Amino acid sequence: MNKIILIGGGGREHAIANQLRKDAPKAKLYVIPGNAGIAMIPNTECVPIAATDINGIMNFAREQAPDLVFVAPDDPIALGLVDRLHDAGIRAFGPTQAAGEVEWSKAFSKDFMQRHNIPTAKYGTFIDFELAKRYVETMTPPIVLKASGLALGKGVIISYSVCDAIVSLKEMMLNKKFGDASSTVVIEEFMEGTEVTLLAFVDGENFAIMPTSQDHKRAFDNDQGPNTGGMGCFSPAKALPTISPDHDVIKTIVEPTIQGLIKEGRVYKGVIYFGLMVTERGTKVVEYNARFGDPECQTILPLLKTNFIDIIDACIDGTLDKIDIKWEDKAALCVVIASKEYPEAVRKGYPITIGDLHKDVTLIHCATLRTDECTEFANDNELVTNGGRVLNVTTISDTIEKARNLVYNEIDKVTFEGARYRTDIGA
Ligand code: AMP
Ligand code: GLY
Repeated sequence: MNKIILIGGGGREHAIANQLRKDAPKAKLYVIPGNAGIAMIPNTECVPIAATDINGIMNFAREQAPDLVFVAPDDPIALGLVDRLHDAGIRAFGPTQAAGEVEWSKAFSKDFMQRHNIPTAKYGTFIDFELAKRYVETMTPPIVLKASGLALGKGVIISYSVCDAIVSLKEMMLNKKFGDASSTVVIEEFMEGTEVTLLAFVDGENFAIMPTSQDHKRAFDNDQGPNTGGMGCFSPAKALPTISPDHDVIKTIVEPTIQGLIKEGRVYKGVIYFGLMVTERGTKVVEYNARFGDPECQTILPLLKTNFIDIIDACIDGTLDKIDIKWEDKAALCVVIASKEYPEAVRKGYPITIGDLHKDVTLIHCATLRTDECTEFANDNELVTNGGRVLNVTTISDTIEKARNLVYNEIDKVTFEGARYRTDIGA
């Protein structure tokens, strides 16, 4: 491997870049667009092209002729970047647009689950407000409303009364709260239970599951406040610490999903994300994502013992059954440091200070930037905030409690104006 292009610029991509750096030590790494933390990785260059600028990425990829393009975020998958790379004869890791539809259309993914008898919440899909309203009026709260399209992990509203649900429906369908993403809305029953993330590598036919994890999606402690992209994570998930090959989740969810995609001509290669709800009446699917989760990725990837490049190659070549993927038998934990206003629109550009961190914790950058001129708050060449989820502090340890103590002992060494984090990750 001489040259790798990685698409994305968040915490997930910082963790992927670290792993690629470790397992392909000689390769030159280009990250589109990357962030200030990724730019500090040796022999790594950030390229200022947006992850959604498919033509810009294609021009850069044709110029560079890389050995591999790793497509990490949801948007470029939905926009068909992997298909374009394949057409240009460039080796790419990630699902095609058709396979990735399990994430970019919740309407598709719910119908897919129904077609293949994969357990999930009862639902209806609507493009007409009046029909949606009538459906909601037949439901018992809580009621879950979802924008069908991509909405940065924020397109789900849980309403505790029919009245609130109708107000939210109006926001979504008539006032386009999530833009075009909410012109189609999925309305579903609320599932009571514990959420678990299960990720798997897939080569089309074979799959290899990764350690389970649990993301904390709500903005504030004790699962209060609005949904976010994820405020912290730990592994293994307490509700589903291990999954044997004959576990229900494999037989009723993972295998039927991979096989269903093959049957529908949407052969899936890459990382697939199963958002699960462990309920009293079995485990059901909340959602699929067509990629690593964020912050699940930065939580569990450091546990990987097998060479990451070998796994990526096996997924692309359809030889995943030939390798035995090994993980550290340890716990991992990640806490997100966010801007004050997140998940609402945030102010950016606040200088970040980072003290001397314990050698066993890793600082991951999600939305950071190095200024190239003086700004309202910062000097030239200063590290500043550049979005909602700004940094992560992660570690691996023997137990979740030890990992928790270590991260929370260190986290206040990383700060900026308005920095905020949940204090109960893994508790
Ligand atoms: P999604 O984008 O589909 O993962 O939804 C975001 C979050 O909303 C999930 O992680 C859950 O916390 C919650 N959620 C979504 N659907 C349901 C459901 N049917 N029942 C309970 N909670 C849900
Ligand atoms: N952490 C959830 C996601 O990446 O969608």
